[in-house]
Amino acid sequence: MTDAPGLMSEPESFALLNDYSITVPRHAVVHSAAEAVTAAETIGYPCVAKILSPDITHKSDAGGVQTGIHTPEELRASIATIQKNIHERAPDAAITGFVIEEQAPPGLELYIGGKRDPAFGPVVTFGTGGTLVELEHDITMRVAPVSKEEAAGMVRSIRHYPQLAGYRGTASLDEAALSDAIQQVSALFTNRPEVAELDINPLVLYTDGLCAVDARVLIRPPAAAPALSRPPLPENLFFGSRIALVGASANPKKIGYIVLRNLLTFSGTVYPVNPKGGTIFGKTVYPSLADVPEQPDAVIVTVPNTVVPQVMRDAGVRGIPLAIIITSGFRETDREGALLEQEVEAIAQEYDIRYTGPNCLGLQVPRLSLNATFDPKSPRIGHTAFISQSGAIITTLVDWSLSRDIGFSAVFSVGNQTNIDFVDYIRFAAADAYTRTIVLYIEEIRDGRRFFEEAAKVTPKKPVIAIKAGRSAVGQQAAASHTGSLAGSYEVYEAAFQQAGIIMAHNLSDAFSLAMLLGSEGYPQGNRAVVISIAGGFCVLASDYAEQHGIQMAPLSDALLAEMNAFMLPGWSRQNPIDMVGDAGVHRFALTFDALIRHQEEWDIAFVVSVPTATIDPVHLATEMARFSRHTDKMVVGCMIGGESMTAGVRVLREAGIPNFEELEDAFRAAGAAVRREEELKKHL
Ligand code: COA
Repeated sequence: MTDAPGLMSEPESFALLNDYSITVPRHAVVHSAAEAVTAAETIGYPCVAKILSPDITHKSDAGGVQTGIHTPEELRASIATIQKNIHERAPDAAITGFVIEEQAPPGLELYIGGKRDPAFGPVVTFGTGGTLVELEHDITMRVAPVSKEEAAGMVRSIRHYPQLAGYRGTASLDEAALSDAIQQVSALFTNRPEVAELDINPLVLYTDGLCAVDARVLIRPPAAAPALSRPPLPENLFFGSRIALVGASANPKKIGYIVLRNLLTFSGTVYPVNPKGGTIFGKTVYPSLADVPEQPDAVIVTVPNTVVPQVMRDAGVRGIPLAIIITSGFRETDREGALLEQEVEAIAQEYDIRYTGPNCLGLQVPRLSLNATFDPKSPRIGHTAFISQSGAIITTLVDWSLSRDIGFSAVFSVGNQTNIDFVDYIRFAAADAYTRTIVLYIEEIRDGRRFFEEAAKVTPKKPVIAIKAGRSAVGQQAAASHTGSLAGSYEVYEAAFQQAGIIMAHNLSDAFSLAMLLGSEGYPQGNRAVVISIAGGFCVLASDYAEQHGIQMAPLSDALLAEMNAFMLPGWSRQNPIDMVGDAGVHRFALTFDALIRHQEEWDIAFVVSVPTATIDPVHLATEMARFSRHTDKMVVGCMIGGESMTAGVRVLREAGIPNFEELEDAFRAAGAAVRREEELKKHL
């Protein structure tokens, strides 16, 4: 029951809310029963009496709250009861006085709160309130500042919204006042950096206005402002044609050997550097960077950690703009490592070198045949930039992608992100003409606010998909915390990502299916789908998956049906999913595509589902699908399901830039996630 350091008293909290035009109950601080009675004459009955003590946080638990007081006599008795309870339950607590408050009439109990997230800064939370706040967990949150439209969107997005909008004949409540209060809490957090946490619970909402009945405000000295952002990375920084490898080795067990072997395919020039000199793989080895005949565009570093500062200095003297520091043994290991990292950073700043890592796998740019990592596998060429905080995830993923024909514009291992961080990589990938989608694997972001602001600028132009690790650990932490921490970190990430238009994927397979879909088809314009299939069973499954993943089956207009009657079998189902029936050949598909092109205002996404059958040549069908896709700006999704017999058709689709899903549900899940992004963005506005 002891007070948390920095907790404001209730009258102080009320005064703060008052400053932000949030209505609080009429109240007064008194020091005796007589003063209480005088105060109640102005406040009015019924009223509430509460203990005022810096030593008691949970007043009700200590018997420090009396409600439903209707007369001066009851008020005197209540004060006496409080004194007695405190005397018994918290004998050491200092009693500073009592707060006499107007008893707010009943209404809908809601919650508005907020906290300063270590990564994202102030976050505002809104939801259903009262004693069941944790249990209900009907909350939504936004990274501040929250605009007027976003506040209104927050109000509409909770499950209990119908209750406040007017439900079964009840009057609608004052949504405008509620949105204002959310915005005011956001402004409070922005203007008052010392406010660490705030809970208004309950905030009672009426048909006209609201009242913040209970408020808890935690004050803490503001954290230091995050470091200023660096200038954007120079264009083509990662695409130079001359690369030096310092720490190149002739020993096949060394990383410096594996990296050099990977570099043999590089379309540019490689300069191995090792004091021993000689040749490795037939290449001249230079004793130092100073001896390299031409100025390298980048240097890869695979020497032990203590040697890295010297290599960086040498690189600075040579005017090399980029270092890829694979070496580990820095901040991630111990204090000494952290100091070494600071030294490296200071040298980089002195010489204006940007660097990836340290403690990273390196980078891969398939279109330059560049594999500057010690991952023995090189990925295929594609249009997705993969930016990962885990080297192991990269090696696993590259291996996985090869068998699935998934390609990359670039693969970046970010390591400790001491100099080049997620924001830099995202901005770089956004500007790269070869990159259509960006996939992130994130464990932790240090400057979440900058990340959030920059990502929000990128997502309208290029889809950004993120896998965020750490859901379970934070989930446990959130469960154990007080309402002020309802914004558990994982949830803050989710909220911030949604606000910034980043799509969250729950596993690598989903992330890359989505990248494939959005990379070739762009964002869907809506959720109305048509399904075209020769397999009745898949039509049924498609309907189920559509419902499950938020896709709506578009009703077919009479005009469209009339056109289709001309070439479909008599008695066809005349509905969506369009069951072409098992005897259909590619011609019937083609005629259906033509009709759908003519009526493309009726739908947003077309799923073309095909299975192995004697009447359909997959290559022919894929060619028709490519034509279909060319003649519509709507999303066309391939679902050529089967095995070997589909391979040639799937290849035609891939060449035409049409994503194919081997599992029908994966197609609907990916499209559903893409659709949800649009809906989330609308909800925020
Ligand atoms: N310039 C050039 N080469 C130098 C040098 C210098 N100033 N100083 C030493 N070297 C050479 C060494 O002689 C050696 O070559 P050799 O095999 O011909 O003798 C080579 O650089 C490597 O040095 P070595 O002492 O053998 O270290 P190592 O190969 O055992 O380890 C690292 C070096 C970088 C691989 C290791 O320190 C490390 O960090 N490993 C972990 C990497 C990692 O996991 N990163 C994160 C992935 S996600």
